[in-house]
Amino acid sequence: MNVEACGVSDDDRRPPVSDLLEVAQRGLALKPKRLPSWLFYDEHGSRLFEQICEQPEYYLTRCEIALMDEHAGSIADVLGSEVRLVEYGSGNARKTHILLQHLQAPVSYVPVEISSEPLRQSVGRLAREFPQLPLQPLCADFSKPLRLPIPPSAPRRTVVYFPGSTIGNFENREAAALLRKMRNEMGDAGGILIGVDLKKDPEVIEAAYNDRAGITAAFTLNMLTRLNREIGSNFELSAFGHRAHYNQMIGRIETHIVSHREQQVKMGRASVAFREDEAIQVEYSCKYSLADFAALAAKAGLAVLRVWTDPQQMFSLQYLVRASTVAR
Ligand code: AVJ
Repeated sequence: MNVEACGVSDDDRRPPVSDLLEVAQRGLALKPKRLPSWLFYDEHGSRLFEQICEQPEYYLTRCEIALMDEHAGSIADVLGSEVRLVEYGSGNARKTHILLQHLQAPVSYVPVEISSEPLRQSVGRLAREFPQLPLQPLCADFSKPLRLPIPPSAPRRTVVYFPGSTIGNFENREAAALLRKMRNEMGDAGGILIGVDLKKDPEVIEAAYNDRAGITAAFTLNMLTRLNREIGSNFELSAFGHRAHYNQMIGRIETHIVSHREQQVKMGRASVAFREDEAIQVEYSCKYSLADFAALAAKAGLAVLRVWTDPQQMFSLQYLVRASTVAR
């Protein structure tokens, strides 16, 4: 099936652009100030993220691809045939290529992505490479309830694919809630194939979010550029900086946008005051031990059926199913 035939469904429950002002105003009224991580991913931000993935310090993508290269056959065996693959936050869906090459007679591929341009591009590429595969792209925020398109034929199981350790962007309670939502969407026979970054030397982790080329810093600050363009705020880019610190106690990278000086920023009719060194919290990237993640899965009523890692055990891919279906 081609892209034309199924088109991109646009989930209209995404916040309209006029709400962006409200999102920003609400987040910056919090103490401490906070803006949601999904704001990173406008067109430019999505491109910067792809560049991050190519930085030597950013081991996550390289390790996950190495893992897929090594284990794709065994992963496909565990998932079985006639799977409907639903990918959350598909971006450019590079790792998906490897998986799709190994899956046996997949029923359809449903990439769910909030950023419409990357979604269209990756779907175009996949349509060329997998002409037999029905593609059912959905432009939507995967953290909200989804209306999945009706599959072209009945799948044996729905597998939610959530690579890249994006789950790490959510705090424990939200992560459990998101896993529970996936559990509902995949049904009784379904599964979740999820990329999870592992705890390791803090210096290695911290370097991954402070690359020498400054791409991550540009990615972080692009959030302000986006707000300036889309809600007409007047953040002065040179007056803010990127800071990413590994909090070893909690096991997560904490990324902030830091105000270099005391300043006022216009936003709609109001203005927001910043103290010198005041920070806006913009992202967490949680790191897990295998035991940490099994405990998180259990909170969502899920059991870890299989774990694959790269040769250096930096990154993991885990297959989760409903806990009630696993014999104990
Ligand atoms: C796409 C959420 C997995 O947290 O590592 C990369 C995003 N932020 N560098 C991550 C990100 C800064 C990335 N995830």
